[in-house]
Amino acid sequence: MYFILYVSKATDQCSDAEIADILQASRTNNSANGVTGILVHKEPDFIQFLEGPEEVVMALYDKIKNDPRHGTIKTIDQGETKERIFPNWEMGFAGEGDLQPLQWKWDLDKLTLFSLADNMGDSMEVIRSFIGVRPLDKNAPGA
Ligand SMILES: Cc1cc2nc3c(=O)[nH]c(=O)nc-3n(C[C@H](O)[C@H](O)[C@H](O)COP(=O)(O)O)c2cc1C
Repeated sequence: MYFILYVSKATDQCSDAEIADILQASRTNNSANGVTGILVHKEPDFIQFLEGPEEVVMALYDKIKNDPRHGTIKTIDQGETKERIFPNWEMGFAGEGDLQPLQWKWDLDKLTLFSLADNMGDSMEVIRSFIGVRPLDKNAPGA
């Protein structure tokens, strides 16, 4: 089992409708390929955690890196892992409305996900804080 945690900046081509499209494609592809994880969006940043078989996750990351809907991609951490954090989420999604419970802890109003990513430990804590928050597996922007 392998994981990748990265942060990126959405480009102008990435509207809520585009994010909904990304999630739909992700959930179909990831369920076929054994990938799980979560995508967090806070304008203008994404932070995504991917987990699954190593070759699959690496190939997917190559594809994602070339997606014109985002740029300035920075890998925060990657490596082997014993078990999945989100075994049931083919791609969970957390948008602005879902970040409210985390605001107090990281002062997210003032912080971008990109700047938060400079502290790897906090980034992983942000990701882990979505475990069991509420089902985000079918969630989409504006929902
Ligand atoms: C921020 C972001 C996250 C993405 N995450 C995934 C993902 O987890 N799985 C996936 O298959 N595609 C993901 N994509 C989309 C891929 O870049 C690509 O468009 C898609 O996999 C193509 O699917 P298709 O070959 O079925 O058309 C993501 C794109 C962006 C911009």
